[in-house]
This record gives sequence, C-alpha cells and structure tokens, in this order.
Amino acid sequence: MFMMGSNSVSNNAFFFFFFSVFLLSLLFRISSAQLSSNYYASTCPTALYVTRNVVVNAVVKEHRMGASLLRLHFHDCFGCDASILLDDTSSFTGEKTAGPNNNSIRGFDVIDTIKSQLENVCPGVVSCADILAIAARDSVVTLGGPTWGVQLGRRDSTTASLSAANSQLPSPLMDLSDLISAFSKKGFSAKEMVALSGSHTIGKAGCATFRTRIFNETNIDSTFAASLKSSCPGAGGDVNLSSLDAANLVSSLDVTTPLIFDNAYFKNLVKNEGLLHSDQQLFNGGSTDSLVTTYSTNSVTFYADFASAMVKMGSLGALTGNDGQIRTNCRKIN
Ligand code: HEM
Ligand SMILES: *[C@@H]1O[C@H](CO)[C@@H](O)[C@H](O)[C@H]1NC(C)=O
Ligand SMILES: *[C@@H]1O[C@H](CO)[C@@H](O)[C@H](O)[C@H]1NC(C)=O
Ligand SMILES: *[C@@H]1O[C@H](CO)[C@@H](O)[C@H](O)[C@H]1NC(C)=O
Repeated sequence: MFMMGSNSVSNNAFFFFFFSVFLLSLLFRISSAQLSSNYYASTCPTALYVTRNVVVNAVVKEHRMGASLLRLHFHDCFGCDASILLDDTSSFTGEKTAGPNNNSIRGFDVIDTIKSQLENVCPGVVSCADILAIAARDSVVTLGGPTWGVQLGRRDSTTASLSAANSQLPSPLMDLSDLISAFSKKGFSAKEMVALSGSHTIGKAGCATFRTRIFNETNIDSTFAASLKSSCPGAGGDVNLSSLDAANLVSSLDVTTPLIFDNAYFKNLVKNEGLLHSDQQLFNGGSTDSLVTTYSTNSVTFYADFASAMVKMGSLGALTGNDGQIRTNCRKIN
C-alpha cells in the first residue's frame, strides 16, 4: 500500500515535472520568440550594414521615409512576421488595404531594395520581418533618435490577416481607455503605449484622420487648430498631409522639429497641440498626464523607455524555428 502510494507519488511527480517543462516551453514560445542580436553573424555578416546603407540613403533622399519605415514595422508587429508586405493576388487579400494601412502605409520599395541587395550577398538567409525591424531602428537613428540592439531571427509568414489588421491596430479616434486596452491586448503597459506613441514626433497624417479634432474639439490650442485648417478644410483635401509634430509657432521660443526624432511630440501635447485625437488623449486630464509631462522635459528618459518598448514590440508574434519561411521576395510567399 505504502510502497504503491509512494511509487505513484513519484510517478506523478515525474510526470508533473515534464508536463511543467512542456508548459513552460510553450509559454516561452508564445511570450518571447527566441531572437538574438548576432543571429546573422556567420550566415550574413553584412546584413546590418547593407540594410543601414539603403535606409540612410532613402531617408536622406526623403526624410519622411524614416517615419514611414518605423510605422511599417509597427503595423507589421501587432505579429512581426512580414505579413504586411504580402501583395494581394486574385486568390488572396493581404493587409495592405486594411483601414489603417490603405493609402497611408509606405516604404515597400525601400524594403524591396534592401531585400534584393541581401539576396545578392546571402541568398535565402535574411527574413523580411528582420529587415523591417532593422530598418525601423536605423530610421530612428538616422533622424537623430535613440538606438537599440535589434533582436533577429524572425521568419516570414506564409499568410496574412486583413481582419486582424483591421481589428487590432489602434484608431486615431480612440479615447485613452481604448488605447490602453488595445496595447494591453499585446502585452504593453500604459507607460509603454505612451512611449511608443512618441513615434509621432516624426511623419505625417492625412487631413481625414484629424479633421474632427481641429474643427470640433475643445482641448486644442485655437491658433494651432486655425493654422491647420488652411490645408485641411471642413470638406475635401482628405489626403492633404500635416506633420504629426505640427506645433504652432506661437512665440519665438517655440520650435517645431517634424524631421527630428526628439521629444517635441510630448512638448506639443502639454500645449494642447497634439494633431490626432488619440495623441491628445495621452494628456487630457487622465492617468498618463504625468508621464507625458516627464517625457516633455526629459528626452533621455523618453529615449530609454522608447528603445526598450521597441525591442519588446519587435518580438510580438515573431515566427522562429521551423515556422514560416525566409521569403526571397518580400511581396509574395516562396
Ligand atoms: C497609439 C496609437 C496610435 C494611433 C491611433 C496611430 C495612428 C496613426 C495615424 C492615424 C497616422 C497617420 C496615417 C495617415 O494619415 O497616413 C499615423 C502615422 C504614424 N504613426 Fe501612428 N498611431 C499610433 C501608434 C504608433 C506607434 C506605436 C508607432 C511606432 C512605433 C507609430 C508610428 C507612426 C509614424 C512614424 C507615423 C508617420 C508615418 C508616415 O509619415 O509615413 N504610431 N499613426
Ligand atoms: C483603398 O483605397 C482605394 C482608393 O485608393 C479605394 O478604392 C478602396 O476602396 C480602398 N479599400 C478599402 C478596403 O477601403
Ligand atoms: C462637427 O460637429 C458638428 C455637429 O455635431 C457636425 O455636424 C460636423 O460634421 C462636425 N465636423 C467635423 C469636421 O467633424
Ligand atoms: C490641400 O493642401 C494644399 C496645400 O496646402 C492646398 O493648396 C489645398 O487647397 C488643400 N486642399 C484643400 C481641399 O483644401
């Protein structure tokens, strides 16, 4: 009896141990794919150099491209698997026409250039998802922002999800609670959501995304709102662009730096000069006000928090091991 019991206890313990290891490994796989910063050290040692070179040239040619490449990585990364790069075909609809992407996401040609150069030096080795992650980092650095060690080893998806892109990417009409919850679903704290939103210190938005804010909202500087209406009237001009860091030059002490990755975005918010409704929500009497104030006066803290949030974002939904593939053309599966 006793012996039997003891045996079954140790059998159970044995089973329980391996089952726990199995569960833990599953959990690890889900929460953080195994990426590493030296992934291509032996298989494609020039991967980082080649990518940076193309990015720097593209950003020098058109500064906004740095913003567009950063956003491309973000929109891929609510699942960093290069699914956003897949073109639609007659039998397949990808993510390019999802509401948040249609007519506004850009940078595909730059990714194609990087990919073709890398296919020349190390064919079939560097994934499109990794290219997106490196290009985002290099864009931020080229525009004067912080750097971070990009984790590598993502593989590319063989499918894409239009419905996920539509339902998971945040909308500029969201209130603070919805922004917090959209990012929380991806494992981010409110603090990380605010830091990542600092991306809007570069790049542009179309009139349709902020029209209601400049015409109808009250938590907006009136001179700032008036200045935006010249290119964003009550009707028409939907695709007319304004800088997301659009600060109104009220006094000679004000600066606007839409081409520089700095903390001006947060300085704008404390003056009620956020361009998007969702931007101003971060400083509107709610729980994130004090963090915005901190970032507005302390770019070192913003840079550090932004960099670690970018590393975290870059591992979301990454495919590793035998999952996915290394596409030879980022626009289609092999
Ligand atoms: C917090 C929720 C967010 C919302 C609601 C949001 C929304 C938007 C919208 C509506 C635009 C303008 C699109 C257009 O009119 O073409 C935009 C642009 C941009 N977003 Fe966000 N975004 C958010 C978070 C982020 C994050 C986390 C990043 C990066 C990590 C980011 C990076 C950018 C960049 C760089 C641009 C400018 C792109 C360009 O000029 O091509 N955004 N965003
Ligand atoms: C995407 O934009 C085009 C206009 O460029 C429009 O014709 C099309 O209906 C849009 N697609 C979706 C799904 O909204
Ligand atoms: C502003 O609000 C009024 C009244 O609700 C509405 O009729 C109008 O369409 C709104 N304008 C914009 C640009 O959203
Ligand atoms: C779009 O912007 C341009 C340049 O700012 C401006 O001339 C044009 O009138 C705008 N479109 C509308 C419909 O206001």
